[in-house]
Amino acid sequence: MKIVIVGASGTVGKAVCERLGARHDLVTVGQSHGDYQLDMGDETQVKQLFDQVGNFDAVIVTAGKVHFGELEAFTTQQWQVGLQNKLMGQVNLVMHGLAYINEGGSFTLTSGILNRDPIRYAASAAMVNGALEGFVTAAALGLPKRARINIVSPNVLAESMDKYETFFRGYKPVSASEVALAYEKSVEGLQTGQVYTVGF
Ligand SMILES: NC(=O)c1ccc[n+]([C@@H]2O[C@H](COP(=O)([O-])OP(=O)(O)OC[C@H]3O[C@@H](n4cnc5c(N)ncnc54)[C@H](OP(=O)(O)O)[C@@H]3O)[C@@H](O)[C@H]2O)c1
Repeated sequence: MKIVIVGASGTVGKAVCERLGARHDLVTVGQSHGDYQLDMGDETQVKQLFDQVGNFDAVIVTAGKVHFGELEAFTTQQWQVGLQNKLMGQVNLVMHGLAYINEGGSFTLTSGILNRDPIRYAASAAMVNGALEGFVTAAALGLPKRARINIVSPNVLAESMDKYETFFRGYKPVSASEVALAYEKSVEGLQTGQVYTVGF
């Protein structure tokens, strides 16, 4: 399969590439690394990406920024980070990818544990994750070309604990390689409209 992976150079993305790279043709995308670079929050750049990449069998998104901070200090601009980047960035990739997806192809997006098991500072992450999961369950009902769509919701990764340890006290981290299995299931299986929680 020809698989476009946005966020390929990241902690989750690297593990997914390792899992799928031996058997599939990967097109790697990031903000500053990969075969193609873009800001997925910018719809024009997303459209240009697909015009350049052409037809594909699957899109995997392992990217998405949100602002973390004290709730009462959140500014409009800080809410916009999650809405524009993690939420609409992934929605943009689905909407513009539809023009180029092959019959029976798939989209696999990424949310995270924080809408189900929240921590301090993570109101934006929780909001955006919930919105993405709602989008995926509803979009699955209406995609053309027999296309499928699923979303992976990982617990905090063991490989990210050096960065996030102080926020995730008491959480049992999951390995990136275990998280990568959910992306493999989404791309190579037949399910659609699923939220794959991993490690919780
Ligand atoms: N790590 C965790 O513990 C964890 C747990 C649950 C959920 N998640 C979710 O999983 C996703 C990936 O997390 P991660 O820890 O793997 O992130 P990461 O290591 O920081 O990697 C982020 C990746 O996204 C790309 N990227 C960043 N901004 C972009 C943009 N505007 N447009 C296109 N690509 C962009 C980066 O590309 P460049 O390298 O080229 O800049 C990089 O490949 C996020 O949505 C995160 O919320 C992570």
